[in-house]
Amino acid sequence: MSKTIKIFSPATVANIGCGFDVLGFALEKPGDVISVSLTDTPGSIVIRNEIANLNIPLDPARNTTTVALQAYLDFLKTDKHTGTTASHFISNHGIEVIFHEKIKPGSGLGSSSASAAAGVFGLNVLLGNPLKKSDLVQFAMQGESAACGVAHADNVAPAVLGGFVLVRSYMPLDVVALPYPDNLFVAIVHPQIEILTEDARKILPELVPLKDAVRQWGNVAGLVAGLAKGDHTLIGRSLQDVIVEPVRATLISGYYEAKQAAMTAGALGGNISGSGPSMFAFCSTFETAEAVAKAFAETFNALGIENQVYVSGINKEGVRVIAD
Ligand code: HSE
Repeated sequence: MSKTIKIFSPATVANIGCGFDVLGFALEKPGDVISVSLTDTPGSIVIRNEIANLNIPLDPARNTTTVALQAYLDFLKTDKHTGTTASHFISNHGIEVIFHEKIKPGSGLGSSSASAAAGVFGLNVLLGNPLKKSDLVQFAMQGESAACGVAHADNVAPAVLGGFVLVRSYMPLDVVALPYPDNLFVAIVHPQIEILTEDARKILPELVPLKDAVRQWGNVAGLVAGLAKGDHTLIGRSLQDVIVEPVRATLISGYYEAKQAAMTAGALGGNISGSGPSMFAFCSTFETAEAVAKAFAETFNALGIENQVYVSGINKEGVRVIAD
C-alpha cells in the first residue's frame, strides 16, 4: 500500500442557474492539489498548508477536508463490508493532509467541496478503494456542512464524479450523472468581491410563488434535456433562474453588465456560479469561451473590480490521483 498520494480535485459550478442545490458540473481548471499520507500515529489527523497567503482553518474540526475525512473514518469504524485494510488502517495509522494549490475560498467555485472531495478520495485510494467513488459523496458533503452550515451536494458530487450531476434527492441521497455534449466550453470570471455562501443563503426567500416554481422546473428540465440532446440553444435558454439570481445578483456589482457582455461576445447563456461572486457562461467553442472571458474581464476592469478569468472544458473524471 502506497503511503502518500497527490490528488487533483476540480473546481465546480453549482446550481447552473436554474438548479439551486440540485445541479452542478466540474471544470478542468482551476482545482485543488492536495497530498494525503498515512502516518504512524493512530487516530491523528494533521493539516499542513504550503500555500502562501492562504488562510484556511488548521483545526481538523473546522477544516472541510478533515471534517469529510472524519465522516469517512467514522463510517469505516462501523461498517463491516470495507474489509481488513480499513480495519488495519484505523488501528495503526493517522492521516496527514498537505495543501499545495487551492481554489480561492469564497469564490463560488466550490473551493471547500474540492478539498473535501480530495480528502475522502485520497483516503479511499490509500485504503485500496473499498468504496466506489459515488459512495464518497455522502462524506464529502459533511465537509460542505462545516464550511457553510448546510450539507448541499451540488458542488461535492461533480467534484467527486466529474461531468454534470443532478442531486435528485437528499434524503435518501440520490445522485445522477447526466449525459452532456463534448462540444461545450465554459468562461468563468471571479470578480474579487467577498461573498460567504452562508450569507448568500440567508437572503434567499423561504417560499416561492407557484408561477415562479413552474418557470424554474421548466428550465431545469429544459437544461437536462438540452444537455442530453446536445442542443446548445436549449441549454442556453434554460439557464434562466427566476428565484435565486434576482436576489443574489444584488451582491455582485456589475453582474448584469457582465452577463450582457458575455451574451454579446457569443455565449449561449450564463449565470452566477454557486453562491457567487464568480459567474459562468457556456459557449459552443473554446475560441468563443476565450472571447467571453475577455468580455467578462473588460466589464469588471471598467468598473475597477479586480478579477480573474478562466476558460475550461468540462472535467469528465472528477477528483483524481496525479502522483503516487
Ligand atoms: N447550491 C449552493 C448555493 C452552492 O447556491 O448556496 C454553494 O456554492
